Amino acid sequence: MTILVTGGAGFIGSNFVLDWLAQSDEPVVNLDALTYAGNLQNLAALQGDARHIFVHGDIGDRALLESLLAEHRPRAVLHFAAESHVDRSIHGPAAFIKTNIEGTFTLLEAARGYWNALQGDDRAAFRFHHVSTDEVYGSLAPDAPAFTETHPYEPNSPYSASKAASDHLVRAWHHTYGLPVLTTNCSNNYGPYHFPEKLIPLMIVNALAGKPLPIYGDGMQVRDWLYVGDHCSAIRTVLARGRVGEVYNIGGWNEMPNRDIVHAVCALLDELRPSAEGPYARLITHVKDRPGHDRRYAIDARKIERELGWRPAETFASGIRKTVLWYLDHAEWVANVQSGGYRDWLATNYTAR
Ligand code: NAD
Ligand code: DAU
Repeated sequence: MTILVTGGAGFIGSNFVLDWLAQSDEPVVNLDALTYAGNLQNLAALQGDARHIFVHGDIGDRALLESLLAEHRPRAVLHFAAESHVDRSIHGPAAFIKTNIEGTFTLLEAARGYWNALQGDDRAAFRFHHVSTDEVYGSLAPDAPAFTETHPYEPNSPYSASKAASDHLVRAWHHTYGLPVLTTNCSNNYGPYHFPEKLIPLMIVNALAGKPLPIYGDGMQVRDWLYVGDHCSAIRTVLARGRVGEVYNIGGWNEMPNRDIVHAVCALLDELRPSAEGPYARLITHVKDRPGHDRRYAIDARKIERELGWRPAETFASGIRKTVLWYLDHAEWVANVQSGGYRDWLATNYTAR
């Protein structure tokens, strides 16, 4: 048996592939276009491991998809590949439409053709697992109940609109064609291999470099934070036992405002790598807010717990400590991702703020 993972050189995808092969000998075909966010160094531990077959390619390449499916005959497709950063979607939405919508469409069509030709047990066992986000549900008032799986779709950014569109395509391919799909909508992940354009890794690497820690607006926007290893275990659980056609929300039961997140990172760095200049929180600066910034996300993860018995293993305190320690231990990985195009991005997003 084999699984096909898309986007397995990115943050969550690479954590998923590493966790998968740490727990099973089932091979992974890993299709990734290696955009700025894809990094083969994340998978360095798998060099020479015959269970990991890396393919450099685009999910929009139908011929490539068809040949990979025909050659490797996976029992499941796990679809992580996406443009994933909200701020980038504001500066340049086209790539989000191309990969998240058109790419998902092409992948669905290739999977449908492959699944249609399967017979018997292989056909019954096949799954298309779509990895999505809580951002499709929009923004919550401070005291509103957390997002359930039946919350209306109200995406507010080009990124979340493109992910919402992809969710709708996946749903339609199930209802119309019977493709056996699973969709998971997860909250904010953090952990190893997180590209330092996102809040937590950006704060860690900027603090260590003595650079400003830019908080958008008042910093009171609330997110639900989940350690990436818990997201991976939830996906494995849904793939193994989730009901076909169902949506499962995944969250950490851990709502926190951005300001508290940044202060927590600073406090850990003060403990683990104190600065001669004084507490890292001195570097916090409030900058112009993100346009259309969603105020609050919160995930009601009771369905996955009730039906499949999944709950996160990490608390925020344990997960953020592991994460900060990982960044302290992986200065070379950080230096490598900070070269070249990453510097251009910092100028694009932060200079005018
Ligand atoms: P990421 O940006 O770190 O990685 C995305 C990966 O997809 C990269 O390796 C990139 O090279 C690859 N990719 C992009 N376009 C591609 C294409 N056209 N063809 C093939 N590969 C392509 O993203 P992430 O944070 O790891 O997110 C993975 C998935 O999880 C995304 O679908 C995202 O929407 C979803 N998600 C992310 C979070 C989060 O907090 N990061 C939370 C919930 C859901
Ligand atoms: O909710 C799940 C989503 O979480 C995923 O679908 C996205 O792929 C992922 O990028 C993430 O989106 P966010 O926009 O919530 O994550 P980000 O790390 O960009 O920002 C988290 C919060 O921190 C958000 O309220 C914006 C704020 N922020 C972010 C950056 C990069 C700042 O205040 N300063 C910053 O420099």
